[in-house]
Amino acid sequence: MIYLDNAATSWPKPPEVLKAMADVLGHAGGNPGRSGHRLSIEAAGVMYDAREDIASFFNNGDPLRVIFTHNATHAINIVLKGLLKPGDRVVTSSIEHNAVMRPLRSLERQGVNLRVVPCASDGSLAISDVARAVDSGTRLVVITHASNVVGTVMPIAEIASAAHTTRALLLVDAAQTAGVVPVDMKAMGIDLLAFTGHKGLLGPPGIGGLLIGDRVDTSLIEPLMEGGTGSQSELEEQPEFLPDKFESGTPNLVGIAGLHAGIQWVMERGIKAIRAHEKELTRALISGLSEISGVQVYGTRDPERSIAIVSFTVKGRQVSELGLRLDEEYGILTRVGLHCAPAGHRTIGSFPAGTVRLAPSMFTTMDDINKTIRAIQRIVNS
Ligand code: ALA
Repeated sequence: MIYLDNAATSWPKPPEVLKAMADVLGHAGGNPGRSGHRLSIEAAGVMYDAREDIASFFNNGDPLRVIFTHNATHAINIVLKGLLKPGDRVVTSSIEHNAVMRPLRSLERQGVNLRVVPCASDGSLAISDVARAVDSGTRLVVITHASNVVGTVMPIAEIASAAHTTRALLLVDAAQTAGVVPVDMKAMGIDLLAFTGHKGLLGPPGIGGLLIGDRVDTSLIEPLMEGGTGSQSELEEQPEFLPDKFESGTPNLVGIAGLHAGIQWVMERGIKAIRAHEKELTRALISGLSEISGVQVYGTRDPERSIAIVSFTVKGRQVSELGLRLDEEYGILTRVGLHCAPAGHRTIGSFPAGTVRLAPSMFTTMDDINKTIRAIQRIVNS
């Protein structure tokens, strides 16, 4: 089997991740911050250690400004629904995932003013267009770090500068980049970062996070959920302090332990080495596919400007047929269709049929890539 669906969820996971998850259930299974006994204290320690490494991994300073969530979608919803009020302006791009577009369209119906800046058909975004869209009424700019459809990487530092000429904050959706591209919140000017644990960070599904930068006044963000936090239990109101304001209910301790082990694995290998390997695979995929007659490769076709995501179609063939044959005849697993990103497919010109998406990872070999190119060649010729 050749697994090329790492943009949906990464697989396999490092053995260290599986071990950390089993260990935490076996040895530190208390409810963190709720009780005073040793298992509860140990569980709280597991969470705090993870917060420290996450804050440092994304260079955001204070570990208490790391909020654990179920996934990137949850983190994005906390910001969009907690911050934006009718009359506020929010700026986004035309290549966003539905994790961003659906809450934004719902907020638009409630009176939030949405501006969608068009990307070019290769997924790239002109910074001058973003600068023109941002004005004194803009409360937030929300942008993906890299498209989940074509992998195009956005100029985040420049977008931050454009946002910060006004009072606007910048929320970045790092679902596809955390763990595979350096993300330095301070250097890039990111105010709010949403990430998921189960893709490039190699953790399990069901755990992600929101990092909140220093410029953000959290009294302006209403919590999406309220409930027990183990703190200020004499009050029937939600605490205002972090992370408790945005973390109600018993947390996913097993997921946090797995996420932490995944981040440690990534830190040990080094993002540079991971990125270099993935660039090499992406370059080979793009050049191999481009030589097959009838194949259209979308995106920048430049691995320096994109992550390891390659979307393609074949003239006269349905993407569902291609995906099925790759799986059944060659054991190559891909994701076909719209990838929960209709806006992205409209932008690149592949709506409504979508594309076949190939997403290798650190664990993919050059041999896997060569076999994939040969398999596609045979399917196209048959
Ligand atoms: N958002 C994930 C993807 O792109 C699930 O496949």
